[in-house]
Amino acid sequence: MAKRFYVTTPIYYVNDVPHIGHAYTTIACDVLARFKKAEGYEVFFLTGTDEHGQKVEKSADERGEKPIELADRVVVRFKELWDKLGITHDRFIRTTEADHKKAVSDLFERVKANGDIYLGEYEDWYCTPCEAFWPETQLIEGACPDCGRPTQRLSEPSYFFRMSKYGEKLLAHIEKTPDFIQPASRRNEIVSFVREGLRDLSISRTTFSWGIPVPNDPAHVIYVWFDALTNYLTGVGYPDEGGDFAKFWPADVHVVGKDILRFHTVYWPTFLMSAGLPLPKKVFAHGWWTVEGKKMSKSLGNVVEPGAMADEYGVDAIRYFVLREVPFGLDGDFSRDALVHRINSDLANDLGNLVSRVLSMVDKYRGGVLNEVSSHGDEPEDVELRETLQRSIAETRWAMEELAFHKGLLAVWTFIRLVNKYVDTTGPWALAKDPEKAQRLDQVLYNMCESLRAIGLLVFPFMPATGEEIWSRLGQPKSASEGLMEEIEHWGGLAAGIKIRRGESLFPRIES
Ligand code: ME8
Ligand code: MG
Repeated sequence: MAKRFYVTTPIYYVNDVPHIGHAYTTIACDVLARFKKAEGYEVFFLTGTDEHGQKVEKSADERGEKPIELADRVVVRFKELWDKLGITHDRFIRTTEADHKKAVSDLFERVKANGDIYLGEYEDWYCTPCEAFWPETQLIEGACPDCGRPTQRLSEPSYFFRMSKYGEKLLAHIEKTPDFIQPASRRNEIVSFVREGLRDLSISRTTFSWGIPVPNDPAHVIYVWFDALTNYLTGVGYPDEGGDFAKFWPADVHVVGKDILRFHTVYWPTFLMSAGLPLPKKVFAHGWWTVEGKKMSKSLGNVVEPGAMADEYGVDAIRYFVLREVPFGLDGDFSRDALVHRINSDLANDLGNLVSRVLSMVDKYRGGVLNEVSSHGDEPEDVELRETLQRSIAETRWAMEELAFHKGLLAVWTFIRLVNKYVDTTGPWALAKDPEKAQRLDQVLYNMCESLRAIGLLVFPFMPATGEEIWSRLGQPKSASEGLMEEIEHWGGLAAGIKIRRGESLFPRIES
């Protein structure tokens, strides 16, 4: 079977500018996409922007702009940020694009043809910032239970989706597919919600016009979540069910924040069931970032701008920090102290230092050229080195399957720390003084460089510039972006005779 992998981020609203929360999800998906490529998969990675709905219409109004002008302006901010952060998406989708509108109309018609859409009257409490209706019983002192902001009573003719019809089927699916909702704690949340019974869902609005019209009834626009969720189909070519769609649908994983898990694990699968389309294999909800202990908000003025952070600390340091600091799935806190600490201890001290030590020794003792070795050594420290790499690769693979990024990084760092220990144990500086130890010195230098080659590839998905730089300093004939995990599975793949380049310190220490 062909190895293919389809990963998506949420599509972000254009009435906000990108911040560390958006960057977090997108970086995680990028790491996954890059890792899968290194595993030999053909990958499709989709991200983009959610541009319709009352919220965007309102923001634009307040600025005296047309909604599309606002979208055109903000979308640039997202695209530029993803470029800067090294995001390798295959498509950036905008819900205002023609092919998406076509896909949404098509899905709507398909669900309707199945008898699951009817015209009714909708009245309930509506939260405009969340674009969600709430029954009275779920409001918290009149406010939206999700964001705490005031709701308003809204009544309008509306098309409804017979979501109530799919509750049992959805529960059965969740039960027999334990991977469908991750992490498991979140699955239980959704199961109790569905068990309470699903209501039919209002899927059109007449009170504003910034959206995709309902086919044959343009007084209505399609509910923004029906529109937005469909992007995952559009991205791979739907309604054309050949081509990329046939290759990549169903998605392997929709990565989302916990705020929008319900839309992805209740609404979305029931739309797809009605349309007779396969469900995504997994929805993973990660946790929420606060900043220096506080909720991020414009009014507090504490919104972390990832571009500025990357300028100050480096792209790779930011990518590393967000995935290492917090187990994926749990909430976390962004603080400069924590970031600087990670940079100094993990990046400068463990990784950067190792690369400098090794390359400067090859420089000093062998004029920068790695000699041929007839064996890789059987000293206990040689064996431990090779075995630890095997284990680290296996653990990283397991962790990436689980989207446990921090565990993947921990496994890589277990190896990095061991290589540092190998340098100390073998003591090349002493070997260099003894002409009878010349062969052992060659062996040790080789093993250290071979370790760096593996490390370069293992860190590459997380820290692409660093991985590339390590490979380049090792004189590798190709970029780490073309490297495959299978190329580091067997010890000794590094060609002797390479000319190494010492280079500057990869991660200078930051003085606080
Ligand atoms: O919900 N911590 O868009 P959105 C962690 N358009 N992640 C965060 C975060 C934080 N503090 N803040 C935002 C929408 N995120 C819809 C999605 S998908 C078919 C439609 C991330 O702009 C996280 O991924 O409000 C969250 O789910 C997403 O941004 C919400 O982005
Ligand atoms: Mg939001």
